[in-house]
Amino acid sequence: MRYPLVLLLPVGIVALALGRSGSEPVSETNIDPSSAPEVYTRWCSSCHGPEGRDFIDRDWKLGSTADDVRRVIESGHPLLGMPAYASTLSTEEISLVSDYVLTQAATKRSFQPTPPQVIEATDLNMRVNVMVEGLETPWGMDFVDDTTMLITEREGRLWKLVSGELKPVKGLPNDIHVKGQGGLLDVMHWQDKFSGEEWVYLTYSKDKPGDAAQSATALVRAPWHAATDRIDAWEELFVALPYEKTHHHYGSRVEIGGDGKLYLTCGERGRRDVHPQTLTTAPGKVHRFNPDGSVPSDNPFVGQADAVPSIWSWGHRNPQGMFCHPETGVIWTHEHGPKGGDEINIPQPGNNYGWPKITFGRNYIGTIITKDTAMVGMEQPLYYWLPSIGACGMDVVYGDAWPEAWQNNLLVGSLSFEYLERLRLDGGKVVYRERLLDGVGRVRDIARNQKGEIFVAVEGAGTVLQLEPLERK
Ligand code: HEC
Repeated sequence: MRYPLVLLLPVGIVALALGRSGSEPVSETNIDPSSAPEVYTRWCSSCHGPEGRDFIDRDWKLGSTADDVRRVIESGHPLLGMPAYASTLSTEEISLVSDYVLTQAATKRSFQPTPPQVIEATDLNMRVNVMVEGLETPWGMDFVDDTTMLITEREGRLWKLVSGELKPVKGLPNDIHVKGQGGLLDVMHWQDKFSGEEWVYLTYSKDKPGDAAQSATALVRAPWHAATDRIDAWEELFVALPYEKTHHHYGSRVEIGGDGKLYLTCGERGRRDVHPQTLTTAPGKVHRFNPDGSVPSDNPFVGQADAVPSIWSWGHRNPQGMFCHPETGVIWTHEHGPKGGDEINIPQPGNNYGWPKITFGRNYIGTIITKDTAMVGMEQPLYYWLPSIGACGMDVVYGDAWPEAWQNNLLVGSLSFEYLERLRLDGGKVVYRERLLDGVGRVRDIARNQKGEIFVAVEGAGTVLQLEPLERK
């Protein structure tokens, strides 16, 4: 395990790159080339965390000597999703940042265990209750009812949290591709209102049969009973073909919309020039199914020659946030941009959200992807983040437990800057942003139950936290 099992809150580590307000772009000039931490913050922290967090106690995959690290930074690792910096950074900068990474790697941090603690938002105090600790990479969560929740760990484990007690659910698919960003991803519990049948759905990156070097995002389901502690009868509903050799940008979130249809997001697998702008492949799309995996006849591309019929919207990069609004039944998504340009969208049938033809982001190495931020036939996001916060997980605050000013606010996790973002909207526009849980760790998912209770999954720290609203200020 890469990090100690305790919460990072009291250490008060504040994300460097967003030191000021969080809304301004990181300056593209004025970086002193001799300053390793600044080079690191500018080019590396969005994926590897503030202050080299990702490298502490690391199980090195590509070698741990200074030469190995320099070589990785220079040449990258396209299959794992590590960019090459040879054309962006000078040899001197590469040496500096490599030394910095190795120094951070050798640092041992001491963390304090965290009791429940109170945090202050501008207009509300909240208690942060640690519901689960000791996980590795909690990735997806969904409530079965108000006292039971399902939690996935990317490493390939499924848990149920029943009245505060964590129990394993055994018997997962045996072809989970745990590599790079891949592994066991989202989970959803759904009850058919008419038949009363309960189901558990999983998304994961699946090995290609006969060639585990390739993988694709897959959706499976199995019957669910409260007493379930082992599931063997997984039924495969969808595989987002084609299989690819890359190990990143799988998506994937799964939700049932107000229309009773199942929505699934699929990332473009790091192949932006191949998938997002064609209807003939599944990656880089939001898909819509009936809950049994069949394709609804009113999907926008049904009957169009060569189009994948489950496609609902296209031109997506790596969507890792989705919720169904409890009042309107509308599906909201967000997706990772590259360096800049994470977006929130309300995907409409048949619409093209533009990646990579239009974007507010740049390549990770700073070069231009396109100057275009708008184009006829392509949709503008409802909101975009510049710089990227590494958006992951999203839900809406809703229900009596929360004060009026919080109703319909969005909560979005930030992987890069390690906090939970609150967004208030007015007339479909974001009018206010606030940082909560600053320095908590990489926020991966957010879930809400019928009572409106909000749970937050933090990877690295390996925790699931509950935000409990206290008195208004
Ligand atoms: C777009 C995200 C991204 C950015 C930006 C990025 N990296 Fe990486 N890097 C990765 C991924 C993904 C890996 C593969 C290893 C893994 O899955 O953890 C990786 C691997 C590495 C490794 C090898 C780790 C090992 O286990 O052997 C080093 C060293 C590294 N990165 C350093 C850097 C430095 C220094 C920068 C900035 C100059 C940087 N990275 C920027 C995504 C990124």
